[in-house]
Amino acid sequence: RTLDDLGDVTGKVALVRVDLNLPMKDGSATDVTRVEAVKPTVLELADKGAKVLLLAHFGRPKGKRYSTMSTSFVQGDVEEVLGKEIMFIPEVMGPVVEQSIGILRNGDIGLLDNVRFWPGEEANDPEFAKGIAAHGDFYVNDAFSAAHRAHASTEGLAHHLPAYAGRAMEAELKALDAALGNPEQPVAAVVGGAKVSTKLDVLENLVGKVQHLIIGGGMANTFLAARGVDVGKSLCEHDLTDTANRIMDQADHAGCTVHLPYDVVVAKEFAANPPSMRICNVHEVASDEMILDVGPQAVEALGDVLKTCRTLVWNGPMGAFETEPFDTATVALAKTAAALTEGGSLTSVAGGGDTVAALAHAGVKDDFTFVSTAGGAFLEWMEGKALPGVAALTA
Ligand code: 3PG
Repeated sequence: RTLDDLGDVTGKVALVRVDLNLPMKDGSATDVTRVEAVKPTVLELADKGAKVLLLAHFGRPKGKRYSTMSTSFVQGDVEEVLGKEIMFIPEVMGPVVEQSIGILRNGDIGLLDNVRFWPGEEANDPEFAKGIAAHGDFYVNDAFSAAHRAHASTEGLAHHLPAYAGRAMEAELKALDAALGNPEQPVAAVVGGAKVSTKLDVLENLVGKVQHLIIGGGMANTFLAARGVDVGKSLCEHDLTDTANRIMDQADHAGCTVHLPYDVVVAKEFAANPPSMRICNVHEVASDEMILDVGPQAVEALGDVLKTCRTLVWNGPMGAFETEPFDTATVALAKTAAALTEGGSLTSVAGGGDTVAALAHAGVKDDFTFVSTAGGAFLEWMEGKALPGVAALTA
């Protein structure tokens, strides 16, 4: 059920789970994308006359109250994005919440404190969920990025109140369905990042679902080593080469082509524009060199692969993109994907950790069909797992 299924909400109290786990530096948020994502839901409910109570976690306080992890830290950012003043409420249940609801007028917004200050949240304690639910008339979950957690505010509340998916949640689920649930084929997946060990389940799930698996970043080195390539002193999980071979066998059986780079950018030291940097074939990496990016020929070939595809799902950068010029392959491939999306031949969905930063760095974040605000939840979805927060809404 979505907000379209709500009747008249005037004067009703909406408990809205949002993700305000914003990256912070020196006390202020460095990226407010997650607030922008929930803005339509929050303002829609406020405009319809509900009293909107925002419920969120912030950091990992593990059931204890830390003043440095209060959601009051992000109140200013939320107010700025929403363009509205909101009331900070330093509890999640009890008389203070009740009194605050009495003060809020219809259409006003309150921000409850960090729900993870209470151990009942992560324990998904039904009594804790009931205590919060007692203040609301209905529950809206608009925090896809926290939906992989079976916590009271992400899962439990759905069992105590009429539950609805917010607009951001709805958009995420629609985009993810278009990417892997029910995609137009052929489908390509780009999986990058440093370590294979963190993405084994992702790779195993993808080989059965996509026609092209493009592996980049440090992960590719482990796959190259599995194929007998000497990767010099590159980041490589040598103990996982058997696993990498198994995944490549699975891909073969499933009709999925695994694309590994055949030329690479190497250097003897990891620094910006190092003098030792050169481009070479993967079979020519010297023992004192490390692979830091995918080479230009491979990038061009991968662009040609994308041109034959209708759907792309992307997680993780192709190289050490935070240090120039090892962002080159990521930027080039992202631009190709963005251009194909704009041209109408490709549905492109990206998400998870560094990916959003990489696409923003390439200047194409807004040109993809959909960019998820989720980190861990996006990965778990790519692993093919059911997300408890989503399951509770659809039960
Ligand atoms: C995130 O930042 O990915 C979500 O808010 C989930 O946070 P968590 O990993 O602390 O549960």
